[in-house]
Formats: sequence, structure tokens, C-alpha cells
Amino acid sequence: MRKYIIKGGNPLYGKIEVSGSKNAALAILPAVILCDQECIVEGVPKIKDVGIMIELLRLLGAKISTIAGDESRLRIDPTKINTCRLTGKRATELAGEMRASYYLLGALMGRFGEAEVPSPGGCSFCFRPMDQHVKVFRALGGTCDDITEENWQDPVIIEKVERTKEKVTIAFGTPSVGATMNAILAAVKSNGKTVIKQAAKEPHVVDLANFLAIMGANIIGAGTDTIIIHGVEYLRGATYTIIPDQIEAGTYMAAVAATSGAVTLTNVIPQHLDSIIEKFIDIGVSITEYSDSIYIERKASETFKGCKITTEAHPGFPTDMQSQFAAMLTSAVGESEIVEHVWQQRAAYVRQLKKMGANAEILDKIVIKIKPMEKGKKLQGAKLNALDLRAGAAIVIAGLIAEGTTEIGHVDIIERGYENMVAKLSKLGANIKVVECDICDDIVDIDDQ
Ligand code: EPU
Repeated sequence: MRKYIIKGGNPLYGKIEVSGSKNAALAILPAVILCDQECIVEGVPKIKDVGIMIELLRLLGAKISTIAGDESRLRIDPTKINTCRLTGKRATELAGEMRASYYLLGALMGRFGEAEVPSPGGCSFCFRPMDQHVKVFRALGGTCDDITEENWQDPVIIEKVERTKEKVTIAFGTPSVGATMNAILAAVKSNGKTVIKQAAKEPHVVDLANFLAIMGANIIGAGTDTIIIHGVEYLRGATYTIIPDQIEAGTYMAAVAATSGAVTLTNVIPQHLDSIIEKFIDIGVSITEYSDSIYIERKASETFKGCKITTEAHPGFPTDMQSQFAAMLTSAVGESEIVEHVWQQRAAYVRQLKKMGANAEILDKIVIKIKPMEKGKKLQGAKLNALDLRAGAAIVIAGLIAEGTTEIGHVDIIERGYENMVAKLSKLGANIKVVECDICDDIVDIDDQ
């Protein structure tokens, strides 16, 4: 086990490079299953979830190697994959560690017409339904049991049924990133035309479509509400670079605004951060956008205001940024309100911020109110466990602001999605280090207190 030890109070200065997008990589790597040749994927983030996906692909028979020893550049040969059934103890353990193992269902179904994948896991802030995924598999001719909280531990099995319809329309009630990407994966090699309505528009959805398009897929409209796919028989090998991670960029921007300082983030697509940048500008933090980088500055003498945030599907403010903003807004001079509209419960970390002295409360699970702290008061260091990926990032930011020392346990949860967070923050001047510990038993979970 490892924990982070943060001594707060240092401003952040300098330049860091943003890694490739976690949520794009986790769909693009399994998409290679659909390819009839070898592919090269670059800009792969070196994070735990990607490591798991690589191991799952290897269990299926894919040959994966790094290029010139660089883990962000992978050569993937899917041609030896000859099973659509990912079974066994190791596969079950790995798939259960992350949500994105569900992309193997779409990709295997797309190649073989059937699939078996152990139940996905992932951040457990609330039950994450899969009915829209099941809708996709059934619409494209597969039979698949409902996936409910009760049978969540069972493998997901899609039995082969031939697609009979020339045109299939899948309309999602609510846009789902995962179900939209699974629909794309399952449909690109399926006979006929597939129309996806109320599709998710996140940059990673477009990135997956772009990757498949250069392999020869016929996909129109990714990034809009309606995606139209004409199935093709063959996908050729391709070399592709994954887009930068807009949530990682936003997380470091929140850290800079919270602590003060001046930082340039390179490898960014500023348009992907529009809704996040808009909020920084609202609260009075200076941002300069360049073609592929962003400069953020807050002088120590400058305060920033509170704001209202409602999380929404893209292009709205992303749910994956609300906890980092909440941590930052504990130091604002005005009141803030965050309404979480994507997930029913994603605010448990607020109790941790309160433990550090924040003037924050959760109203009816989805509304977070943050009031300014008493004049002259600051967050205080505390011993806390990372509750989930983004909640963990939030308490890192809180630790960077806080007076005294913050110890964060269960940091493997943070490392599922952030590449070298400690090295990147240290490079900017943060006092943060990783310490090996047998067990983090001196850190008591907030719910146990
Ligand atoms: N939903 C359903 N039924 C479904 C699927 C989703 O009702 O079958 C609902 C969910 O309950 C939620 C909404 O639709 O209210 C959106 O869920 P979505 O399917 O878009 O989420 P996801 O695909 O499971 C991905 C990211 C999450 C991110 C969400 C929303 C990956 C691997 N995960 O999850 O990322 O919060 O989209 O943008 O791409 C993270 O990175 O920390 C993270 C949790």
C-alpha cells in the first residue's frame, strides 16, 4: 500500500504535459479487436486502468508491445484473438476492477457476433446501470439478460443471433458515454445501417469514431446527437494518437487556481475544456488559450468568487470535474452551489472536505453548498482515504491548499486515472511525496468515524 503525504501552502509554477485521455484510451484499445491488422496507438496514458485493459486484451490473445520502450506508444496485433469469451479467475478479477471492461462486450460482439465478459466494476459512488448497453446488444441482434444490481457479479453474456434488419435505430433515453461507444463498437462491422439517437457527444466518443474511421469504418455524425454507421466488412491497421485528457487538464487547473501560481499545460485541446474554462473565467481566474496549450494564473494577492455549477453531458460541465471544483471553491470569497445531474450520488468526499474545515454541506445527495470559510481561516491537513478517482483528486487539491500535513490513503484509486500525479505536482513546486506503508490503518474512513 502507498499513501500521499502533502504539506499544503505552496503555490504552483511551471509547465506540465497533459497525458492521453483515460476514457478515450479505454475504448480505443479494445476497438483494436475489430481490426484485421496490427495497429499502433500513441498517446496512451500510463495509468492503472490502461494496464488492466492491456492485460485483458492479452488474455484474449492480443499481442501488445511498447515501441522503443515507451509505454505511451503501443503496437497491438489483434489477429491471434480467436475467442469471444473472456473467462477465468484472472479475467474476472481484472474486469471487476474497472467499469470500462464493458467495452470488450461491444468490441467482441462487433467481431464475433457474440461475447462473454466478466461483470465490470469501477468507481463505486453509486449503482451504475447498464440497461442502455443491453438495449444496444439486443437491437443489433444479440440476446442478453438484463444487468441489474442483483446479478452484477455474473458475467455478461451476449448470445449470437444473426442481425436480420437492414436498418436498426437505437434511441437512448439519456445520453450514455459507455452505451454510445459500445453501440459504435458493436455496429461498425455489422451488416446494414445503424442509427444512434441521443448519442453522447463527449470528445472521447469522437476520438473513438475518428480512430475507427481511419481504419476504414463508415461513421457519420460523431459529436452530434445522431450517429449513423454503415457496417463494413474489413478494418485495416492504423496508427493513431489519442486525444489529451481534458479532465486531467481541468484537475491541474483547479489545483493552480486553489493554491495560486502560474502554470502552462501543454498537450491540451482547449475546445474540449470550454465549459470548464467558462467557470474559471466566471470566478475570476485568468486563463489564456493557445492552439494546443493553456496558461492559467492566479496571483496570491487575488481572491476568486464562488459560482453555480450544474453537471451535464458534454458540452455541459463534466461530472468528472465537480469534486475538484468543490475542493477549490472551499477557498472562494463567495458562496457556491454544485448540482450533480449525471450521477445520483457523487458527493461523499464533501464530508472529507468538512473534516478539513470546509464550510460545505450535501443537500439531498446531489446538491452541494459551499460557503466561504471564516476570515483568516484555512483548510487544515487531515488523514483521509481516496474514496474514488475524482474524489481522491479533490482531496489532493484540498491537501495542497491546507495548512499542515494531509495524508491520503488508497491512492491506487487515484492512480487508476492520473498518470504520475505526484511527479507532475512536484515539478510545479507542490510538497507532495509517496510513502510505502504496510497498511494505511492510521487513516480512518470518514464513514467509520
Ligand atoms: N445510464 C443509464 N443506463 C445505462 C448507462 C448509463 O441509465 O445503461 C445513466 C447513468 O446512470 C448516468 C448517465 O446515464 O446517470 C451517464 O452515464 P454514462 O453511461 O455516460 O457513464 P459511463 O459510460 O458509465 C463514463 C466515464 C465516467 C463519466 C461518465 C459521464 C468511462 C470509463 N467512464 O461512464 O468517468 O463520469 O461517462 O461522463 O468512460 C471518471 O472518469 O471518473 C468516470 C467516472
